[in-house]
Amino acid sequence: MKFFIDTANLDQIKEAQDLGILDGVTTNPSLMAKEGITGKENIKRHYQDICKIVDGDVSAEVIATDMAGMIREGEELASLHDQIVIKLPMIKDGIKACTYFSKKGVKTNVTLVFSPGQAILAAKAGATYVSPFIGRLDDVSTDGLNLINEIRMIYDNYNFSTQILAASVRHTMHIIDCAKLGADVMTGPLHSILGLLKHPLTDIGLEKFLADYKKGN
Ligand code: E4P
Repeated sequence: MKFFIDTANLDQIKEAQDLGILDGVTTNPSLMAKEGITGKENIKRHYQDICKIVDGDVSAEVIATDMAGMIREGEELASLHDQIVIKLPMIKDGIKACTYFSKKGVKTNVTLVFSPGQAILAAKAGATYVSPFIGRLDDVSTDGLNLINEIRMIYDNYNFSTQILAASVRHTMHIIDCAKLGADVMTGPLHSILGLLKHPLTDIGLEKFLADYKKGN
């Protein structure tokens, strides 16, 4: 499973990159705003800064909601760096724009996916990634992980090459559950990734090893 970090915070991206396990970054307009990155030119520069830190795919989301606007914006974003993946909303024009970019060999990520039907359309449009939002489904008393399971089954039935990018991951157990279900990628906050490191028996064991070493040296 590939690990993406879901943030526009450069320090957190660096910290995850330094671990040596990072495969990419996802952002969205809300994450950009959270870091105080506003204005088209600043946002474009920020994407370039992110690409300098990581080696893998960096999702950059369009703001337009009509096909022509999405294509214009997407082409601008794709020209910033070859790591940029165009993030398109799961709406009718988003699917049309996805088909357009797929035919041109430009990578895409269809976002705001909440149902298996939407995931089928994204795959048919040739999306590189589909982003089911598991945390937001959990927020409304619907099992987000079940959606990952359903999409995995459907994609495997037809050998769709679209990668399932489990998004809106909120905590460490989401990552483990997504791995069990065969998600191709997960994108989550830094704390959810760092949570994978933790086990009290590791800390207790290390403390004892070091104490025993000190006794004999
Ligand atoms: C995915 O690409 C989105 O940026 C993100 O995962 C949404 O997460 P949230 O529901 O925690 O805002």
